[in-house]
Amino acid sequence: MAFAVPRAYVDLCDLAEARGVPSTKYTQGLGVVQMAVAHPDEDPVTLATDAARRCLLAAGRDPSQVGLCIVGTETAVDHSKPVSSYLHGLLGLPSACRVFETKHACFGGTAGLLNAVDWLASGSARGRSALIVCTDIARYSVGTAGEPTQGAGAVAMLVSESPRLLELEPGITGCFSQDVHDFWRPLYRKDALVDGQFSVKCYLDALAGAYAEWQSLDTYKEPLVRTCYHVPYGKMARKAHQRRCQLDGMSEEAADSSFALQVEPSLALPAQVGNIYTGSLYLALLSLLHHQVKDLLGQRIGLFSYGSGCAAEFFAGRVMQTAPEQIARANIETTLRNRQRLSIAEYEELRRNDVHVDQRPSEQTVAASYGAALSSARKTPRFSGIDPRERRVYTVA
Ligand code: HMG
Repeated sequence: MAFAVPRAYVDLCDLAEARGVPSTKYTQGLGVVQMAVAHPDEDPVTLATDAARRCLLAAGRDPSQVGLCIVGTETAVDHSKPVSSYLHGLLGLPSACRVFETKHACFGGTAGLLNAVDWLASGSARGRSALIVCTDIARYSVGTAGEPTQGAGAVAMLVSESPRLLELEPGITGCFSQDVHDFWRPLYRKDALVDGQFSVKCYLDALAGAYAEWQSLDTYKEPLVRTCYHVPYGKMARKAHQRRCQLDGMSEEAADSSFALQVEPSLALPAQVGNIYTGSLYLALLSLLHHQVKDLLGQRIGLFSYGSGCAAEFFAGRVMQTAPEQIARANIETTLRNRQRLSIAEYEELRRNDVHVDQRPSEQTVAASYGAALSSARKTPRFSGIDPRERRVYTVA
């Protein structure tokens, strides 16, 4: 696994001051500290490519060994051409590779991951790996209650028959779905719309449903020593764990100490990046493993994925003995180093330009820049605008 974030962020104490609310409302009330913000040359394609490139390097794998590439995103850059096609070109994946994009709000990445597990179990992989990338830029309108829960980033995962980080359990997953309007983004909008308090209720109802089904299918009957939840903001993971403890018949006090032990270590990275939609659960997993991998060898970890609309799944994985070496290669500290702290004025200026970002003309032509990107697959591409035929142009510095 590896992740990528944009090069800038907003400190939420700065945002609280600008919005005239106590900073504790964001830091304690929501459990968020910083939120990543994308510049115009950063988009779900560039973030996905950066995360995937880091992931392949960390795993010591060549793009030619990838037979399936699924990108989960709810902030895609085109109604038709998937982010996975751009990624295919920019990484130099083989032509004999199944490539597609999945969408179901924040659940899209999990849909891809569980598809990859089934692809391996079916025998279609024939020794190859699947590359799953979750990539998003979370935007709510400036000044709304959702604003402090924005973020941006990508998480990439390489899935194979011989896992070195986490072994998933094929067939043992609990699902829950229902048709609700808790969070949505009409085709003509860049910013999401949300029924905030209702979305919290939908998340918790989905957790109860998915967890119950998972419990009925779990044949291992070994305890989950930690659980990672989808993290739109840290407090949501706390509410989720409290609900689960309640379902398990625990007292409120026991639930609080269970949260500190079993969930808190997974919230450090999400608090520094914000909601990255499809990648949020996996950023939490990276955070947990980064902080505690050596204590978790051979142990089971629960995973809960939620996507508004809604779809949810509860499943689990076992930490491999080789995980410490793998997690060290993910370079987690360096990924967050040297980020630029934006002032609120700079952030608001970026947001004002958001609507035009996808329409600015590129100074490059597709043929020249795309060729350059292909031959420099180890570098992070930048989105430079659209060419005269309205095709997106990515350049590699
Ligand atoms: P809000 O208006 O900030 O809500 O909106 P609030 O006034 O209830 O305050 C939030 C918490 O801060 C409360 O704690 C307050 O008590 C506390 P709680 O009762 O929840 O435990 N608080 C303070 N604490 C310390 N010091 C203070 C203080 N003041 C208040 N001074 C809301 C919050 C989450 C609704 C809003 O931010 C929002 O709409 N966010 C976006 C939606 C969202 O993230 N929903 C989560 C579930 S849905 C989901 O996860 C899917 C999603 O990722 C999308 C997808 O699937 O694609 C969003």
